[in-house]
Amino acid sequence: MNNTIRKPIIAGNWKMNNTIKDSETLINNLIPLTKNKNCDIIICVPFTSLERAINLTKDTDIKIGAQNCHFENSGAFTGEISPTMLAEMGVEYVIIGHSERRQYFAETDTIVNKKIKSAISNNLKTILCVGESLEEREKNITEKVVFKQLELSLSNIEEKCLNNIIIAYEPIWAIGTGKTATSTQANDVCKFIRSTILKLYSKESADKMIIQYGGSMNSTNASELISEKDIDGGLIGGASLKVSDFSIIINAASTPM
Ligand code: PGA
Repeated sequence: MNNTIRKPIIAGNWKMNNTIKDSETLINNLIPLTKNKNCDIIICVPFTSLERAINLTKDTDIKIGAQNCHFENSGAFTGEISPTMLAEMGVEYVIIGHSERRQYFAETDTIVNKKIKSAISNNLKTILCVGESLEEREKNITEKVVFKQLELSLSNIEEKCLNNIIIAYEPIWAIGTGKTATSTQANDVCKFIRSTILKLYSKESADKMIIQYGGSMNSTNASELISEKDIDGGLIGGASLKVSDFSIIINAASTPM
């Protein structure tokens, strides 16, 4: 990370884990370990735990995010949650375009683009996820895939909105598999993402953009990954469910090497 220009962000993605009671325990244990850190800390909890999480983290250093939202503000979309609803609750962040949403819920870049626009118009900050599959990496088309995802996902999004967007590079083959990208592999793609922002927008926006790495980041590999120049933190799944591991990752981002 280059923390003279960018403040690192560590975000936990709990996925479909933790009841309200479990969430409460985890958050209460996490709060004292997150005080006065040199990085921003977000936890993206299931919809059912959002309200409790927001109440518990008032006046703390933890910010709360959701893991998805619909692109419409209301309507006949049974089972969906709108960005307006999230904003009303006091949610600050929302993950958009996670590979599990793309893979299991058929989310396309066009849908991702609509969701980002809608989230931003509701004053939510978004964590946009991009990343290639193993097959795409082996075919040597990672950059092509990631460029297309960014180009389509950010289509017609004004430059000033980028202040409310974080990009998470999450190679699909590294998510939940225990296979982490090497720090060089991860940094190369994060650097490519930054150069894409330069191409689509400007150098100023590229320099300011927070680009996280996600995919089996844990207490052992976090500090090496985060010390890379273009990696500004992490989006952490499995290891964010364990307070001690998540706290080590937060400390790794908070004390630059
Ligand atoms: P993981 O998940 O850390 O469990 O690999 C990361 C993510 O899916 O955001």
